[in-house]
Amino acid sequence: MAPLTIASTVKLSSGEVMPRIGYGAYRANGSGVYEALKAGYRLVDTAQFYDNEDQCGRAILQFLAETGTSRASVFYTTKLWQQCTTSYAAAARGIDGSLKRAGLSYADLFLIHSPPRSRTARLETWRALQDAVKAGKIRSIGVSNYGVHHLQELLDWDGLEVHPAVNQVEVHPWLPRKDIVEFCAANNIVVEAYSPLTRGVRFGDALLADIVTAHGGAITPAQVLIRWSMQKGHVPIPKSSNPDRIRSNIDVFNFALSDAEMAMLDLDSYAPVTWDPTISPL
Ligand SMILES: NC(=O)c1ccc[n+]([C@@H]2O[C@H](COP(=O)([O-])OP(=O)(O)OC[C@H]3O[C@@H](n4cnc5c(N)ncnc54)[C@H](OP(=O)(O)O)[C@@H]3O)[C@@H](O)[C@H]2O)c1
Repeated sequence: MAPLTIASTVKLSSGEVMPRIGYGAYRANGSGVYEALKAGYRLVDTAQFYDNEDQCGRAILQFLAETGTSRASVFYTTKLWQQCTTSYAAAARGIDGSLKRAGLSYADLFLIHSPPRSRTARLETWRALQDAVKAGKIRSIGVSNYGVHHLQELLDWDGLEVHPAVNQVEVHPWLPRKDIVEFCAANNIVVEAYSPLTRGVRFGDALLADIVTAHGGAITPAQVLIRWSMQKGHVPIPKSSNPDRIRSNIDVFNFALSDAEMAMLDLDSYAPVTWDPTISPL
């Protein structure tokens, strides 16, 4: 594998490329997004639910205008919330509403935030996303919080025209999600890792302390977790509203975790720090 750099990307099933690390914008505002872009993040992850699509869009456009950077160099992701995943019409309206709020002519990636409750709702929402791709409103589409059974249903559907590019799920050493990760790898679906820092819950863990010590104390527990995620092949999207932490969370390209350190963090554990809709029944 080529060495990871701040400019590393992964090619999606859509043919588009996505940065290997992103900025998670839940509970963030426009200034956080702007700081992140200045620090070198080129992927912004928001959602209708975060109620900040407008701020994210404005911060991106401000950054592009001030730096002369092209729109194509920033990867913008948003997600359909539950009231927009009840029918084709609700999803189509939801997609248009999101783009309007962000002030962007297209989204790089649009996700279903969590599995809609019925098969009809799941597949009709996907049909609306597919049509938005054909209409040029979205470049790639994917899902979030889908378990293997939800993914299998989508892949088996005879109306599938656009392959899911991404499944965004909570992943970190205490929630490695081996079943979902293996299924995604086998089906050309990139795993985007949310809450990659465990929301800070595990920062005091002895395993992280040992790895920090082995690196002479020159790295932080957050950096260990981001590096773990990237070396696993995931796309982590850490969130911070603090400019110093925003910068340090992407300053992970001057060290690597050894095979032994990766093995130390290879845990057989199921400990979500957020919700877990991946286990919802079909
Ligand atoms: N699809 C979904 O259902 C879903 C669910 C959850 C999250 N997400 C996405 O994933 C992103 C990240 O997940 P998350 O926000 O849940 O959690 P996270 O990134 O694991 O952790 C964020 C928390 O860690 C703190 N933090 C960040 N960097 C730090 C550092 N270097 N040292 C100490 N503390 C640090 C932040 O506080 P400060 O801001 O004060 O630094 C914040 O409280 C979200 O923003 C969102 O985009 C998606």
